[in-house]
Amino acid sequence: MGFKVAVDGPAGSGKSTIAKILGENYNLTYLDTGAMYRMIAYKSIKDKVNLDEISEVVELLEKVTIDMKDNKFFTDGVDVSQEIRTPEVTSIVSKVAAIREVRVKLVDLQREISRGKDVILDGRDIGTVVFTNADLKIFLVASPEERANRRVIDFKNKGIEEKFEDVLSEIIKRDNFDSNRKESPLKKAMDAIEIDTSFMNIEEVVRAISVLIEKKK
Ligand code: CDP
Repeated sequence: MGFKVAVDGPAGSGKSTIAKILGENYNLTYLDTGAMYRMIAYKSIKDKVNLDEISEVVELLEKVTIDMKDNKFFTDGVDVSQEIRTPEVTSIVSKVAAIREVRVKLVDLQREISRGKDVILDGRDIGTVVFTNADLKIFLVASPEERANRRVIDFKNKGIEEKFEDVLSEIIKRDNFDSNRKESPLKKAMDAIEIDTSFMNIEEVVRAISVLIEKKK
């Protein structure tokens, strides 16, 4: 079966940073499921797919290949690790992720990649849909302002200037959309442990979850 850790939560709550570190520390394969939705969103822009035409979306899903290796992301063999993080992709990814056919394909892939392995996945529906029997479920939250602040710093480190107000409104909009969609909305699983990271640094969050992992292993 393998040991499964689910990390869910809203945009910018620190899921991927934390999951990556825990994956390395505990030898768990890390799967960034948000990046998978971003790859489909990127490809839909590139191929000028009309997202309101389900047949066009299905055609895209049938032909696209997505791969992940060493924290790099490839669509049809091309490294798109940078492109999937652009504001353009971010602005449509929630719309793409709300499409049932997209979710069916990516959830299948997530389960297939994880089969028999010790894994840590981050996303929105890992504890509620993808691995409802996960050994440990974490729900990370933080205030929208703190999450926007972290995003602005992330962008700055990459040499991109983004306004705090713009990032904040994008985060709030995306959270609302993700939480209110029909298909696998963002929500805390009943048996998930919620951690508010607003006043915690990365090390403190890692330490708190490490204690929980060690109890379950
Ligand atoms: O890193 P950030 O918090 O900005 O988002 P992400 O994890 O890269 O996810 C991007 C988008 O993909 C989210 O806003 C969701 O709409 C969608 N997503 C999802 O629906 N289910 C997942 N398991 C992961 C992401």
